[in-house]
Amino acid sequence: MQPIRTVSIIGTGSYVPEKVLTNQDLEHVVETSDEWIYSRTGMRERHIAADDQAASDLGVEAAKKALADAGIGAEEIDLIIVATLSPDMFFPSTACFVQDKIGAKNAFCYDLGAACSGFLYALDAAKNQIASGAIETALVIGSEKMSTFIDWEDRGTCILFGDGAGAAVLRAGGEGRGIMDAVMGSDGSLADLLWTPGGGSRNPMTHEMLDQKQQYLKMEGRDVFKHAVVRMGDAVLEALEKNGISADDVNCFIPHQANVRIIDAISKRLGVADRMYCNVEKYANTSSAALAIALDEAVKDGTITKGDLVVLTVFGGGFTWGANVLEWGK
Ligand code: ACO
Repeated sequence: MQPIRTVSIIGTGSYVPEKVLTNQDLEHVVETSDEWIYSRTGMRERHIAADDQAASDLGVEAAKKALADAGIGAEEIDLIIVATLSPDMFFPSTACFVQDKIGAKNAFCYDLGAACSGFLYALDAAKNQIASGAIETALVIGSEKMSTFIDWEDRGTCILFGDGAGAAVLRAGGEGRGIMDAVMGSDGSLADLLWTPGGGSRNPMTHEMLDQKQQYLKMEGRDVFKHAVVRMGDAVLEALEKNGISADDVNCFIPHQANVRIIDAISKRLGVADRMYCNVEKYANTSSAALAIALDEAVKDGTITKGDLVVLTVFGGGFTWGANVLEWGK
């Protein structure tokens, strides 16, 4: 479905913290090896935020770069959405902290919770606000300090995640078709395959809850793997069909950066291995930031250029998933 007004991404930016944690470093944290991690996931290293950096601080760095890339001032932003599962605090929203730090005094702000799918969901929400004519300009951020919610004694999960942020500035108008369409889906019946069960109103912050380590991310890796492959593949095919596009027409596919084997399985199914973007080796899985960082890198390294058809796809806790089709106009 074409939006009522064309909506384009006019700038992107990303940021990862300075500290690098390699697979070799992890060999000193849990019983694992570089060989095991790389062969199972395609990851070599990840970045870890400093103690005094929260999700908003990572998001601010990415946002500043996206605004500079777009060539606009913070006061021109009407809406800020931060997709995150590691917010600074329950409330106020991380988006409000970002607003204050960048001086976007004319924006209304909220966080969006769709786990690793958050950035794509947020892009769609912002696009629709602009397409409808309600606003002109939005800043969409995916920002995660995953290291806070990881059990560093659980080798099944701690090797998989990293910290970072990515951002995009959306505006009405632009050349080409802009952000064309998205298909999204969720299945709450599978929530317990990937979740952080403690710390909320279901299982509040008590000494007992903390002793049981319920505040950390829990995952059934094999189940998540299978669902991720099927849901992202299906979402891409549905988005292509709905928009009358063949996979051959697409210049670049950017999937959620969770595991190179998941990405390879989707590439094989769609027959698009030559156009599938992957940077999981450098950053591991940065949840809602992963797609945003990959999009920024693909634009900056020249993989995506003006006029290209781009397909984004995500999968995350919930479960949530989606695919987004856009024509790059910058
Ligand atoms: N180092 C060494 N051995 C390990 C490690 C480790 N870090 N972790 C697990 N093992 C062991 C297990 O204990 C098990 O040993 P056993 O056979 O003696 O019991 C063996 O390795 C195999 O474990 P599996 O969990 O079956 O390994 P698998 O091949 O499935 O790989 C992995 C695990 C990498 C987690 C994989 O299932 C995966 O990538 N799943 C998807 C995870 C994911 O992408 N999640 C996020 C997606 S959505 C989002 O981004 C939130």
